[in-house]
Amino acid sequence: MDQSAFYIKTFGCQMNERDSEIMAQTLAQHGSIETMKIESADVIILNTCSIRAKAEQKVMSLLGSLRKLKKLKPDLTICVAGCVAQQEGQQLIDRMDHVDMVVGTQNIYKIDHLLSRSRESKVIAVDLDNNYTIPQFIPDYSTQNDTTADNIATVADFSRFVTIMQGCDNYCSYCVVPYTRGREISRNYNDIIEEVKTLVDQGVVEITLLGQNVNSYGRTNNVTKPGKKTGFADLLHGVAEINGLRRLRFTTSNPKDLSDELIRCFRDIDILCPQFHLPVQSGSNRILKKMNRNYTVEKYQQLIDVLRENRPDICISTDMIIGFPGEDENDFDLTMKLLNKVSFNSSFSFKYSDRPGTRSADFSDKVDEQVKSDRLQTYQKRQDEISLKRNSGFVGKRMEILVTRNEKDGFTGRTTTNHLVHVQSAKIEKPGNFCVVDIIHGGPHSLKGIPIL
Ligand code: 5AD
Ligand code: SF4
Repeated sequence: MDQSAFYIKTFGCQMNERDSEIMAQTLAQHGSIETMKIESADVIILNTCSIRAKAEQKVMSLLGSLRKLKKLKPDLTICVAGCVAQQEGQQLIDRMDHVDMVVGTQNIYKIDHLLSRSRESKVIAVDLDNNYTIPQFIPDYSTQNDTTADNIATVADFSRFVTIMQGCDNYCSYCVVPYTRGREISRNYNDIIEEVKTLVDQGVVEITLLGQNVNSYGRTNNVTKPGKKTGFADLLHGVAEINGLRRLRFTTSNPKDLSDELIRCFRDIDILCPQFHLPVQSGSNRILKKMNRNYTVEKYQQLIDVLRENRPDICISTDMIIGFPGEDENDFDLTMKLLNKVSFNSSFSFKYSDRPGTRSADFSDKVDEQVKSDRLQTYQKRQDEISLKRNSGFVGKRMEILVTRNEKDGFTGRTTTNHLVHVQSAKIEKPGNFCVVDIIHGGPHSLKGIPIL
């Protein structure tokens, strides 16, 4: 058995977090132990993201700094996995000869096998198969009690991500994902149910279903019987029936595929949390068209109205790209108008960034960096004001939180609406416990509460 110690650093989205967990569980099952200290690792895996230039730069600078470590420890194995690996392939090794393995997004489950191969030669595994099947991988949890060299729990015991689909066929003009994650592929329905059941049996109470575009689950390939149509709403109903599961969430969605059936799930499924991340990207129809988003601002607003009718307490968050090529003052004004009109609970907003291979990278009318920064600041300042106002509205409310960690003066947890709550308390609550608190303060990014007496 290989008793080597591995260290994983994850960049990017929740799917990458889940992929890192899969690699960790696979390696642990084959006898390796995880370490939280990079300097004591025999194998270093960087699970990477390339969504924006900045994300990729972070990876490259960490990789650059590992050159020294490799010189000191020639037996060290350095592996680049995930989206940058998928995108760069051989070029990564050409540029950084201290890299031993390049493992793309559809090769994550083979990490152990690839690691063995790397003892003989450099490994580049970046094939993308249009007919890829997401493997069924359920680790043997009964043997996983002590898989970390440093005795630090590596996985949450009570809240977990479950991948339900991978890839994307939408080809938004700015987005690298169809090239890094491949074509849209949905996972087998029964495999998902089996995984969630196993997790719930292990004490997991909260599940987040993951995919780049979950609304179109089951659209491009068969997930149950041939000829039977099973969609995302069916999957939500199926997962929600699993006994013992207390909270269900999902991410991420494209407004163009948001069905009435899915909206009704927010009304009909009580464990489906009243929280919806619905990226809009711009408030200007002209820009949405150039982005190839296939919906209008009016359509988006109508979806929000219907969502709020079906679940009045629903909290809506969004993604916004600021400074897309051709965005002028008027387009940006329309984005600000949409922000004010919808009054999002929160936004993830980013300056537009050119990505290799995307259509918008070739657009000629790029927005000046300073203008992008100024607009981003204006947007974020207004969002913070709106979030503060909305969060202040929770003061006086009694809410249930799922405790996530202990602090010096109490603990923190999350509400069903996904608000972070800091609770001042002399009493310690175990992470994973549910606790009812009274909200006493609302800030722009979190709430404060006290336990009920
Ligand atoms: N530039 C800036 N932001 C981007 N995103 C995706 N691609 C780009 C890009 N090229 C943002 C989108 C997406 C989120 C995950 O990242 O808002 O929803
Ligand atoms: Fe980053 Fe997108 Fe890849 Fe996730 S899927 S790691 S966000 S590039």
